[in-house]
Amino acid sequence: MTRVLYPGSFDPVHNGHLEIIETAAKLFDEVVVATMVNTAKDGVFDLDEREAMLQEATEHLRNVTVRMFAGLVVDLAAEIGADFILKGLRAVSDFENELQMAQMNNAASGIHTLFIPSASSSSFLASKFIRDFTRFGGDISKMVPASVARRMRERYG
Ligand code: PNS
Repeated sequence: MTRVLYPGSFDPVHNGHLEIIETAAKLFDEVVVATMVNTAKDGVFDLDEREAMLQEATEHLRNVTVRMFAGLVVDLAAEIGADFILKGLRAVSDFENELQMAQMNNAASGIHTLFIPSASSSSFLASKFIRDFTRFGGDISKMVPASVARRMRERYG
């Protein structure tokens, strides 16, 4: 049985993340999606709100579980017995930072990171753009799960 850990900010989860999760659910026996703290980003939603949105968005996937964790990815990977860390890649610009994190995590714990490329139909999606669009009245309903669109409207009015 292969268990993978898919960590991210997910602030909020969007359809690009969901596509990676659905692909991972087909490729691996168990997928643990974890919303975590990225110290380089200011959080908008609390970790428990992000976790709830991820849960709503993935409830149709039987081998996917969701959790939040305010610590190191390698510690969570060890705690849950993950075989691999999984990340999505949208563009070459994602690669440099992702490679460095993968190497850091591998050096610290020996775990390897696998990358799944985004489909071109969702490779432009980013949580920061979803937040901007919602904040200034744009329509993001085709870019995020329905429950996220609802929570975004509630948050931004
Ligand atoms: O969706 P993001 O913002 O690209 O995800 C980045 C995230 C949350 C996976 C990264 O910031 C992270 O791993 N945070 C947890 C703390 C940690 O393990 N930091 C060391 C990374 S080498």
